[in-house]
Amino acid sequence: ETKRLIVDIHVDNGKSYSQAVDLLNNGEVVAFPTETVYGLGAVATDERAVKKIFAAKGRPSDNPLIVHIGTCDELENYVEHISHKAKLCMDAFWPGPLTIIFRVKSDVLATSVTANLKTVGIRMPDHPVALQLLQQLGKPVAAPSANRSGKPSPTEGIHVEEDLYGSIPLILDGGSTGIGVESTVLDLTLDTPVILRPGGVTKEMLEAVIGLVFQPSHTEQNNGEAPKAPGMKYTHYAPNAPVFLIDKEEAAVAKALTTLHEKGHKVALLAPENFSHLPAEWFFTFGEQDTNEEIAANLYHALRSCDATAADIVLATTTSTDGVGAAIMNRLEKSAGGKWYTDDM
Ligand code: TXA
Ligand code: MG
Repeated sequence: ETKRLIVDIHVDNGKSYSQAVDLLNNGEVVAFPTETVYGLGAVATDERAVKKIFAAKGRPSDNPLIVHIGTCDELENYVEHISHKAKLCMDAFWPGPLTIIFRVKSDVLATSVTANLKTVGIRMPDHPVALQLLQQLGKPVAAPSANRSGKPSPTEGIHVEEDLYGSIPLILDGGSTGIGVESTVLDLTLDTPVILRPGGVTKEMLEAVIGLVFQPSHTEQNNGEAPKAPGMKYTHYAPNAPVFLIDKEEAAVAKALTTLHEKGHKVALLAPENFSHLPAEWFFTFGEQDTNEEIAANLYHALRSCDATAADIVLATTTSTDGVGAAIMNRLEKSAGGKWYTDDM
C-alpha cells in the first residue's frame, strides 16, 4: 500500500508530482529525496499532518523538525528576523545542506514542528525533486529523515521502503542522494554562531563567510556544556548488532578480527576498500581511503547493510575530521554509542 514512484529525467514526472502535492494538501505525508538524505514531509502549518510524521517514524515528540522551503522570499513568513549573518549564509549556501536556526514567528507553523521551542530550523534543499515538489506545493514542508527513529538515515528510495512500508502512502524515488549525511545545523540566534550538528557545509566553509563559528567537540556536547540539537541525545544511526570503532590501521584491524573470531563472533567490517581482503564474514565498503566525500556517501548504506547479515559485531574504521569528516565521525560515534574496540571487551 506504499507506492514508490521513480522520478528521474527519463520519465514524464508530471503525474507523480501532482499525486505528491495532492497528498500533502490533504494532510498526508510523502517521502522525497534531498541532496543529503531522504526526508519524510508534511505541510509544516498542518498540525495533524505533522503528527503523522512522528507516528510513522516512531519519533520522540520533543525532537523538532526541519522546515524545507522552495523559495527564499517565503522565509520572512515563518521567522521573526533575518540577521545579516543569516543573509550571508543563505546567499552562500542555499539551496544546499545548511539548516539555519532562527527565532520562530508565533502561530504560523504547527507546534510539533518546533517542539514548543522559540526557534525553528529552516533550509532550502539542493535537489531537483525536492525543489520541484516544494515549488509546486507552494507551502513549507516539515521533514525529518525518512527512517524509523534510531536507524541510519535513508540515502536511497528503497531504504525508505524498508523502514516505512505500509505506514506512508508515497515515496518519490529520485535514486541515491549525493552527500549522504544530513545537513549542517547552524544556530544563528546566539552571539556566536554554533554548529549544533556537523554536516555537508563545514566549519571552514562557514567561517569563510561569517567569521568565527563555534563547533563543540563531541565531549562538550555530551557534557551538556554547549547547546545542542535536541535530537542529538537519542540513539541514532545504529544497526541491530553493536558497533565498535577502530583506527584505520590494517594490522590492528586484522588482529581484532583474529581475536573476535577466537571468541566465536561473526563480524561485519565497515572500512575503506583497501581493507576488503581481510577475513571478516561480511565487508561493506566506505569507498577509497581518505576520501571523506565518498565515505559520507557510502556511510548509511554500509551501516544499513549490516542488518541483512547474521553479524553479531560491527567493526567500523574511523576517518579524519577534515571537511565532511567531522560529520562522518559525529554519526559513527553516535552509531557506536561511543564504544571503541579493545582486545578485552
Ligand atoms: O539533511 C537534513 O537535514 C535532513 C533532510 C531530510 O533535510 N533532515 C534531517 O532532519 O536530518 P532530522 O529531523 O532527522 O534532524 C533534524 C535535526 C535534529 O537533530 C533536531 O534536533 C535539530 O535538527 N533541530 C531542529 N529544529 C531545531 C531547533 N529549533 N533548535 C535546535 N535544533 C533543532
Ligand atoms: Mg534523522
